[in-house]
Amino acid sequence: MSDALFEKLRAQFHLPDDKIYLDGNSLGALPRTTPATLAETVENQWGTDLIASWNTHDWIDLPLVVGNQIGKLIGAPEDTVVCCDNLSINLYKAILAALELNPSRSAICAEEQQFPSDNYIAAGISQLLGEGRCSVKTLRIEEMTPQNLGDTAVLVLSHVDYKTGSLRDMAQISANAHAAGALVIWDLAHSAGVVDIDVTGCEVDFAVGCTYKFLNGGPGAPGYLFVHPKHSSASNPIPGWMGHAAMFDFESSYRPAQGIRRFLTGTQSVIALSAVSAGLAIFDAVSVSALRARSLLLTQQFIESIDGSVVKENVALITPRSEVARGSQVSITLEDAFPISQALIDNGVIVDFRAPNIIRFGFSPLYNRMSDATAAVKVLAHILKSKQYEHPRYQKRSIVT
Ligand SMILES: Cc1ncc(COP(=O)(O)O)c(C=O)c1O
Repeated sequence: MSDALFEKLRAQFHLPDDKIYLDGNSLGALPRTTPATLAETVENQWGTDLIASWNTHDWIDLPLVVGNQIGKLIGAPEDTVVCCDNLSINLYKAILAALELNPSRSAICAEEQQFPSDNYIAAGISQLLGEGRCSVKTLRIEEMTPQNLGDTAVLVLSHVDYKTGSLRDMAQISANAHAAGALVIWDLAHSAGVVDIDVTGCEVDFAVGCTYKFLNGGPGAPGYLFVHPKHSSASNPIPGWMGHAAMFDFESSYRPAQGIRRFLTGTQSVIALSAVSAGLAIFDAVSVSALRARSLLLTQQFIESIDGSVVKENVALITPRSEVARGSQVSITLEDAFPISQALIDNGVIVDFRAPNIIRFGFSPLYNRMSDATAAVKVLAHILKSKQYEHPRYQKRSIVT
């Protein structure tokens, strides 16, 4: 990506001058167009056209329209992604749909250390259906071979691990699952928008993700669900009127809509969806491959800065050094990680902490500068040397870390 293109992209975000924002892997920055887009949706559409807006401003199709914007980033064909609910709810729908598509198998296979909520959902489904119909087993990534997946109905896996930032081989693992007769659901929370993804080429069965991280959709922005066209007849396990073939006929029984619309259940937030759409429009000017290349440069710069700094004595890198195994964040472990993370934030380097001892530095190729990577390490070195983090104020834990 040229410097000129990068500066043009960065200029599209509100970024406080006194902060180095390295938490786009948790909450993306605010796109400058979002407030005006929201004002248009609220004041002009809702305020002026009121309920007619469902038709005149096409609010009714917004989950599919935004789904298509997301589809372009993950290699999905038109009309195979719907933006709705949140990642967790979409995962629930995908797992149950997959179990129905693979009725002779009962095991959900997951990675033990992955984002816990994904595993809570799998366990909840097992509890609901009973162990006989659905059980959960865990394997390590390297154990996910065709042999070990022989009893698996569906494999649920994060493309980039939320703690370590390691990137998984979607093509190979999906092929292993398919060779074993299993379906695969990928959680794209930490990879969409920063890693090349080809859900079509990898024949991914289902994928789920959220839009508030690297897609910059805003706090609590909706999630999304991709369903491979070969499963277009799959059932939504939470059937609702918004996924009905004729929603305004109010028929007494459910008939699913054709295509991805059937995975809608109830009414979605038009306001939230318009914010997501504004964030995604920024991606029209740049390819994911260019973003991936820049993301790798940023994380490489950060890793090299650590290697070249005194901080290397205190920290251990838990993110793979290899490019093919690295997402868009670098995670380190160190003693006193929590107070150090708070001191970093106090010094304007916005990061986050994950128990028990991890600090995550997330890099968004849309707006992070190379100098952010080097400056963050300098600030970390200063905090460690001065022992600033020992001040009691950095011990206070809020709910969100
Ligand atoms: C990897 C991963 N999966 C799932 C989730 C849950 O997403 P949501 O709360 O939007 O359902 C998150 C949230 O941060 C996540 O990072």
